[in-house]
Amino acid sequence: MKTLTLTKPDDWHIHVRNAAVLKTVLPHTAKQFGRAIIMPNLKPPVTTVADALNYREEILSALPDETQFEPLMTLYLTAQTELSEIKKAAESEFVHAFKMYPAGATTNSDAGVANICGIYPLLAELEKYDIPLLIHGEVTDPLSDIFDREHLFVKSTLTEIVDKFPNLRIVLEHVTTTEAVEFVLSAGPNIAATITPQHLLYNRNALLAGGIRPHYYCLPIIKRESHRQSLIKAATSGNPKFFLGTDSAPHLTHTKENACGCAGCFSAHAAIELYAEAFELANALDKLEGFASFYGADFYHLPRNTDTITLEKTPWSVPLSYGEDEIHITPLKAGEEINWKII
Ligand code: NCD
Ligand code: ZN
Repeated sequence: MKTLTLTKPDDWHIHVRNAAVLKTVLPHTAKQFGRAIIMPNLKPPVTTVADALNYREEILSALPDETQFEPLMTLYLTAQTELSEIKKAAESEFVHAFKMYPAGATTNSDAGVANICGIYPLLAELEKYDIPLLIHGEVTDPLSDIFDREHLFVKSTLTEIVDKFPNLRIVLEHVTTTEAVEFVLSAGPNIAATITPQHLLYNRNALLAGGIRPHYYCLPIIKRESHRQSLIKAATSGNPKFFLGTDSAPHLTHTKENACGCAGCFSAHAAIELYAEAFELANALDKLEGFASFYGADFYHLPRNTDTITLEKTPWSVPLSYGEDEIHITPLKAGEEINWKII
């Protein structure tokens, strides 16, 4: 039996939601990962340290007994964020980053930033306290083509932010294009990126060819094959600027299988196994541990985990749905086989 033992990985970008959905999805992440960066796009968003501490308590109380898992909290940056809140976040041992959504870019981003120049004083404060800024990197101009929104953001807004705040630590979240990879490669060591399993495994044909498949719809939208190849190259390069962030984003099945379906893929049920498949296909399983378990911790100035997980090469069938009662969440690869299994 082929096995693979890794230092316990961390997920540097995840949506675990709250209430009943939180209870359904969290055990999957807690089983695989030591820690996870928790996205703050709840309704209403997590904008203050006090909100984050309450949310952290809710997450801890949803953990199965005897699970060692540490939620790393983030705050949602808005035009109304107070400078004093950034200082409070810097002093909190539980808050690790601020997340910036351009207003309207994605799920629950209405409270995001409409005018980036307007929040420069906040970015200066983040730079001063050396708090990472996590960016959803897409322009929101309704006239811009959805497949171009990431690289347009990189060329305009991100380039300007990096010029103005050269020491700000930035994670460009869930990169999906060659242009984003090239930008991160050409920038200093304070600029990094996360990559999701769906963007490593699929191109836009999975979403659109032979029928529209809403469970592959997420934002930034999955791009053409040449971009997937760039992401595979980045993830398997051993370059510490690229690390694991699933962007697992559960939505109830009926809200995705809908005339106006929600954006987000649920991947927490098999996160590390999905990455193992992608790395194996690229003949780069030896590069998985750095990507999954080392580089994110190093970027966030946190210690690397010391325990391990083991995967074995045993195919298993992904259930069609997770959850009970009125909670039904369709996972990535529902009804299909995955070759690696965590033991
Ligand atoms: C995320 C969600 O559902 O919260 N959706 C997604 O398509 N990735 C938001 C996000 O990270 O963009
Ligand atoms: Zn996300």
